[in-house]
Amino acid sequence: IKRLAVLTSGGDAPGMNACIRAIQLTASACNIEVIGFHHGFNGLLEQEYQSLHSHHVDNIIQRGGTILKSARCPALEQTDGPARAAEALQQLNIDALIVIGGDGSFRGTLAISKHYSGQLIGVPGTIDNDVDGTDNTIGFATALDTALDAIDKIRDTADAFERIFLVELMGRHSGYLSLAAGIAAGAEQIICPEFGTLSPANLKPIITPIQHAQLLKGKASYIMIVAENSYPGGTTALAEALTEAIGIECRACILGHIQRGGSPVGADRILATKLGAYAVEQLLQGANLMMAGEVNGEAVLYPLAKTGDRTKAIDPFLVRWQQQIGSL
Ligand code: F6P
Repeated sequence: IKRLAVLTSGGDAPGMNACIRAIQLTASACNIEVIGFHHGFNGLLEQEYQSLHSHHVDNIIQRGGTILKSARCPALEQTDGPARAAEALQQLNIDALIVIGGDGSFRGTLAISKHYSGQLIGVPGTIDNDVDGTDNTIGFATALDTALDAIDKIRDTADAFERIFLVELMGRHSGYLSLAAGIAAGAEQIICPEFGTLSPANLKPIITPIQHAQLLKGKASYIMIVAENSYPGGTTALAEALTEAIGIECRACILGHIQRGGSPVGADRILATKLGAYAVEQLLQGANLMMAGEVNGEAVLYPLAKTGDRTKAIDPFLVRWQQQIGSL
């Protein structure tokens, strides 16, 4: 490998910069030239890129976002998108491309592989932690702490006003972040898409625990973590429906993109460094169409094609504990 490219794609995640840094430093140490495409796959299609030298990655390990910018890329989903992306890689003499992103970005990478003779490798970077084949994705640990900080604050005002709060967390179609944050915040209820879509016609399963907690335990505050996409009309609509159904004021708080920002926590910086460096090392050993992940503390390769087979399962032990004990 003489020339290596890297891009960040999809929802940005804290630690992406740390990963870019590790890739640049590791590749440079092996005398490989590194370039970075801007704005995800769009930069590849438009040939919008920069050389990455060590001074570009100085002082970025602690910064959220991504110095390469990120974006989703509808153009890659057009019929000729993947072939055009592969052509751009060949024209620029790129021997290997590292894609830092989530499952959608890996799907794009796989599509490009049908037209490209170089090596392609993925590094999981998303706050959702929904990628199969790695225990954690870059950004998840930071998003969890960010969400916790916010939920703890909401708890104070919920307690003062004796209110029920529904806090909506990100995760797209995964409840991983919601389950983790809900457990760590001591939330009274956690609602995830994995439990099936809630029906406005049948809110009983979530109302009963609220009434139980209020009548039997006299709880002053009640926090319900709601993963996005768990209720057809959204979390604000769910709060309204609950208010109507139980006659107690329920407030919704949508945390939104705050969960994607901030300086990465130590665990994310370490994971990002490890996976970025490992990706480069494995490319040099010939790896292709793999994701660099971490399982039980060890860096591992996992077939990119398998990452899309299913969304990573949420912890059944914590689900059972929350439902049987934490929600009572
Ligand atoms: O995948 C990361 C993520 O933040 C999801 O949790 C969320 O559903 C989505 O991206 C939001 O995307 P956008 O910033 O494009 O609205």
